[in-house]
Amino acid sequence: MAPVSAPLLIAIDGPAAAGKGTLARRLAAHFGLPYLDTGLLYRAVARRVIDSGQSPADATAAAEAARVLVPEDTRRGDLRGPPVDEAASLVASVPAVRAALLEFQRAFGRENGAVLDGRDIGTVIFPQAPAKLFVTASPEERGRRRWAELVARGVAADLGAITAEVHARDAADAARAAAPMKPAADAMLLDTTALDADAAFAAALAMIGERLASQGLTR
Ligand code: DC
Repeated sequence: MAPVSAPLLIAIDGPAAAGKGTLARRLAAHFGLPYLDTGLLYRAVARRVIDSGQSPADATAAAEAARVLVPEDTRRGDLRGPPVDEAASLVASVPAVRAALLEFQRAFGRENGAVLDGRDIGTVIFPQAPAKLFVTASPEERGRRRWAELVARGVAADLGAITAEVHARDAADAARAAAPMKPAADAMLLDTTALDADAAFAAALAMIGERLASQGLTR
């Protein structure tokens, strides 16, 4: 009987504006896997709380918003930008919010495999993923990328303020007690500071290929 191979799961974690999303999307296309940007789940929870007039720091309101979240919420056009950025980080620190979103993320990859990007994919959501990347870039470069993103969308933004905001959010995401952002013990580190999107993709592909081959998995 042919061996049954598990669906391929690729975990992409790391701080804000390190290039995770672009990279994860390209990896998903390359491997023919579905892609989930898990940050959108926390952003959508934050949006619901803000829209209901409650404070994103209100753990009870955040947990309730997470429990009633529907996939369509993540397709809204107003999930990116400074007010939601900060609110998403706040609601993401609430254990009941993370618990409410856990099963959706696991179910997303269970049948057919997937590429997921976030902060705790390799540590909590799919600790058994055979290929995990922790994608970073220097704080200055990440601040610059987030600033350039906003400017490209026509949002007036101050580089220094945006860089400070990105750093504050990363510090909060790394310091929280519930599923803090950190590399899994078996994550491969990819620093994209000096890499453009093509070079980051090539480097990631080489690392993942090697890791899969070392486990007897080929794609
Ligand atoms: O990746 P992002 O910037 O869209 O994420 C928004 C916020 O959500 C971020 O501050 C941390 C949080 N987040 C998380 O805690 N766990 C994830 N798997 C993804 C995002």
